[in-house]
Amino acid sequence: MTKNEAIKEISALRKQIEENNRKYYVENAPVVSDYDYDRMLQRLAELEAQFPELDKADSPTHHVGSDLQEKTGNFVRRAHKYPMLSLGNTYNISEVEDFAARAGKIIDTPFTYSCELKFDGAGISLTYRNGELLSALTRGDGTVGDDVTANILGISNIPRKLKGKGYPEHFEIRGEILMPYDSFERLNNEREVDGDEPFANPRNAASGSLKLLDSAEVASRGLICTLYHIPSEDIPMFEGHFQALDAAASWGLPVSADRKLCNSIEEVKDYINYWDTERKKLPYPTDGVVIKINSLDHQRRLGYTAKSPRWAVAYKFKAEEALTRVLSIDYQVGRTGAVTPVANLEPVFLSGTMVKRSTLNNADLMRAMDIRVGDMVRVEKGGEIIPKITGVELSERMPGSLVPVFPTVCPDCGTPLVREEEQAKYYCPNSIGCRTQIKGRLLHFLSRKAMNVICGEATIDQLFERGYVRKPSDFYRLSRKQLLSLEGWKDKMADRFLDSLEQSRKVSFDKVLFAIGIRHVGQTTAAMLARRFGSMEALSKASMEELVQIEDIGEIVAASLFNYFRNPQEAEELQRLKDAGLQFSMEIVAPSAQDGPLSGMTIVVSGVFSRSRDEMKDLVISYGGKNSSGVSNKTSFILAGEKPGPEKVRKAEELGVRLVSEAEFYDMIGLAQAPAQETIDPEDEDYYPESLFDM
Ligand code: IVH
Repeated sequence: MTKNEAIKEISALRKQIEENNRKYYVENAPVVSDYDYDRMLQRLAELEAQFPELDKADSPTHHVGSDLQEKTGNFVRRAHKYPMLSLGNTYNISEVEDFAARAGKIIDTPFTYSCELKFDGAGISLTYRNGELLSALTRGDGTVGDDVTANILGISNIPRKLKGKGYPEHFEIRGEILMPYDSFERLNNEREVDGDEPFANPRNAASGSLKLLDSAEVASRGLICTLYHIPSEDIPMFEGHFQALDAAASWGLPVSADRKLCNSIEEVKDYINYWDTERKKLPYPTDGVVIKINSLDHQRRLGYTAKSPRWAVAYKFKAEEALTRVLSIDYQVGRTGAVTPVANLEPVFLSGTMVKRSTLNNADLMRAMDIRVGDMVRVEKGGEIIPKITGVELSERMPGSLVPVFPTVCPDCGTPLVREEEQAKYYCPNSIGCRTQIKGRLLHFLSRKAMNVICGEATIDQLFERGYVRKPSDFYRLSRKQLLSLEGWKDKMADRFLDSLEQSRKVSFDKVLFAIGIRHVGQTTAAMLARRFGSMEALSKASMEELVQIEDIGEIVAASLFNYFRNPQEAEELQRLKDAGLQFSMEIVAPSAQDGPLSGMTIVVSGVFSRSRDEMKDLVISYGGKNSSGVSNKTSFILAGEKPGPEKVRKAEELGVRLVSEAEFYDMIGLAQAPAQETIDPEDEDYYPESLFDM
């Protein structure tokens, strides 16, 4: 194929794919099968790999939409040009001295250290070509990352175009996506109102945000980027890492100014001591200092171990801790009836905020800790911005203190609590009569990610106390007169509320499915089920067997769904919501992967492939198959790469299950070739497993 032919085909494919994306995501009315869509995308990726100069950051291969979620993962996976490694770390200054001494034995001339903060976010690798941002990959497993370019474009301090001169024609620069504390607090407040689980810390929030399917939502989350590493292979023109970062800053890239070039280990120690306290004033999280031997030539000589460079070490700060007293323990009832013990604490200042409460998670953890009212407890915040009680100071226990008794009845309605098998929490089963649960469900129903009707807790209280609203369908029967009879309500407020309810009748089916609050069915599961089944009716008829077959749906979620649709009260309520005009189906159902060449087959993936194993498993799903981890007589074949598990091979021989090679597999599904970009060195897969990383 000539370059001109490729230009034409690439442009046609991009147009076609974008048009299909629009039909699928915007109009909810796909016109091609998922299979055909995947093939177009695959072809485009092949062409871009063959003609890298025609690849562009805004190509649809860099921002595959959410339809691929349940089939091939949300994002295109790509191999890192250089593996994204971890850092050796220590909490001990003497080990930093040992690090310097070891390096000194290999480098015989004097050397300097580049000292930097250790930023606590989600790793990112950006590629710039001819001064323009080309792509952004997450760390993934260190060898292969997710292409999150579309999401990165919404982070305001990442330049799309570089300024100044002297930047390499093609280079990677790595760093961290951070969520500043204020953005984190805002996000968690919103999540609480929406009934979503809050993020445990800014790092989780940053990496969760990077993986969102809606780039506009990512852009609204207030993420920032800081960059700290250019692989030395990409910058042969620089002598030192510190100077390369200075240059990167001059090209407009976000590089922290809180770096220091140190001439001796004494200066390094001063830097560490200074930042141990100063970092608390920074608006984003850091968890240590990174000390790097500065000369790139020295770095090359020192090289790498299997998982980290020998030219750098991370000194980690100890998590901040405080001692405070337990004033009382509350038992909170959530909208699903789950009862959570919460300790009220004597307010104590810790890492920038006042800590007053801490969850004790569940009865078992509370007992294991042997926590009592009046106890002095250690509270830690470290990376976990939500404070955690890490232990009880038994030596300070007051005589006569009592073991707290976990309630046996609901603190709100008095119904005996139940605990289902394998569940950590106790539940109040009185979902129909328990006021706290009812109000929680009503609030959840209207929340932003569900029906998106602006309404606070106080309004719910008013509507509930008056007896106007008991179940979601009651909202759609509220009259203007009823609203105006509530204390403090004026015309404008009533109109706005009614208008907002009217608008909610148009809210898409996936959101309605989330809004009705089936236990264990969060936003992502609801979206996946809506797309898969297309309508409430189809979903309500699904058998347990059908439900557990779905990836990401375990027994517990399946049982919850199955029972929900067989509960006569829920069925009546669903009918009322349907009559109120809510969306109970997607406009057009996306064809499922059921008609793919692997449909009906159960496949075990084992060994090392030219793609990552996860990617191979994704291919199995996208072509209609099902993954399984164990070989049995139900196994259709083993997709065997290099060095497949010996136990699996033995079992396959015993049962007469066929082994299919990677090449045969591609033939089977009609895929022309191996990975879209780089070939992964099979060795790497075993070198850098996720467990080695300390993130
Ligand atoms: S240098 C070859 N510098 O910490 C290793 N990493 O715990 C290049 N990190 O994987 C990494 N701040 O994601 C480097 N100033 C900094 C850093 C930093 C945070 C992260 C990075 C690394 C992890 C190791």
